[in-house]
Amino acid sequence: MNKIIIIGCLAVMSLVGCDKRITKLQYAPDMADSATIKSQESILLPPENAIAMSQHIYPQDVLDAEKALKNPLELNTRNLQAGKKLWGIYCAVCHGQQGKGKMTLTSAYAAAPPDITGDAYKSRKDGFFFYRITYGAALMPAYGHSTDHFERWQIVQYLRSLQNQ
Ligand code: HEC
Repeated sequence: MNKIIIIGCLAVMSLVGCDKRITKLQYAPDMADSATIKSQESILLPPENAIAMSQHIYPQDVLDAEKALKNPLELNTRNLQAGKKLWGIYCAVCHGQQGKGKMTLTSAYAAAPPDITGDAYKSRKDGFFFYRITYGAALMPAYGHSTDHFERWQIVQYLRSLQNQ
């Protein structure tokens, strides 16, 4: 009798196993039934006006920056003081405390920077300086990674005050 039951069960199980159309009972099917996302396909659309991390969020070159960017910060003592402190941290070592290009670095550093308080630089717009601080120049390092954009505008504001002295 037992043998008949076992054979009967095996027969039923093998029949069920053969039919591919029957979904088998799954234990914890969470991942098996997830939506199919093809490779390189995104499950979420980026929010409106989002900018990819690899994109330039500023104008493409220094001339664009000079045309398009304006210092958004109010001219006040708090911003000037912050700019002065940042200038001392990031710029003075090469440009000197007064921006005249008197380096505190030794001559081992390739070249002394120009006097950026002179007329040639006074006539440049704020966006020019902002871009230079963000991306650097030929010999000058970029500071976009170590300062946020408010700090860069504070430096620009302080540099303007040096130019007007
Ligand atoms: C390691 C030295 C160094 C540091 C630090 C440095 N600069 Fe310069 N900077 C230079 C040199 C050298 C030049 C000359 C232009 C070049 O890079 O060939 C220069 C040029 C510039 C110019 C003129 C760029 C042009 O296109 O004519 C500006 C503006 C300027 N620096 C601003 C800054 C500010 C603001 C800081 C601080 C955030 C700073 N620099 C930090 C070395 C430095």
